Amino acid sequence: MARRGEHPVAIDSSRAQLASARGFQREFGLDFPLILAEGEHVPLADASFDVALSEYGVSIWCDPYSWVPEAARLLRPGGELVFVVNGTFLMLCVPDEDVLAGDQLLRPYFGMHRFEWPEDESVDFHLGYGDWIRLLRANGFDVEDLVELRPQEGAVPSHRLASLDWSRRWPCEEAWKARKR
Ligand SMILES: C[S@@+](CC[C@H](N)C(=O)[O-])C[C@H]1O[C@@H](n2cnc3c(N)ncnc32)[C@H](O)[C@@H]1O
Repeated sequence: MARRGEHPVAIDSSRAQLASARGFQREFGLDFPLILAEGEHVPLADASFDVALSEYGVSIWCDPYSWVPEAARLLRPGGELVFVVNGTFLMLCVPDEDVLAGDQLLRPYFGMHRFEWPEDESVDFHLGYGDWIRLLRANGFDVEDLVELRPQEGAVPSHRLASLDWSRRWPCEEAWKARKR
């Protein structure tokens, strides 16, 4: 985006991640702001962006009922929100963190929101489709697309939660596109 003449700004709540990002900026000859902040409370003005993008950042690590309103605040009317999350079926079929999903539903779909795992202290957030649509609409977004990603022919297994066979049958990653009215 920076090379295309746009003006990206990156937000992360981890100093270590921002230090890595700074290193990559130096390596690839790029320079744009890297801001240390929580995605639910970004220290930037209302309506300052045309696009907000999260790829497994706030989109899974923050409560959507906090970060979606913040994304709506930061976007101009007509602005686009794109975010990538784990597939909804995947989150119902994984036995534990870092264990491949099977073909049985292990937890209820209704009420899915906050996920905690027995093996560590991490918490992540996943909603059902209707809840996503209602939350986006309540914050002034129109849903434009939900892209259910599928492995290409000849793909090699690389996903930590889904085998190739699983992800050919069910979506293991989903990309939402919404536009602020
Ligand atoms: C799996 S990484 C993906 C990041 C990005 N897509 C990338 O490729 O570098 C998740 C990131 O979300 C950040 N994160 C977690 N909670 C956050 C929060 N509340 N606000 C901002 N960033 C957060 C983590 O520090 C981490 O850098």
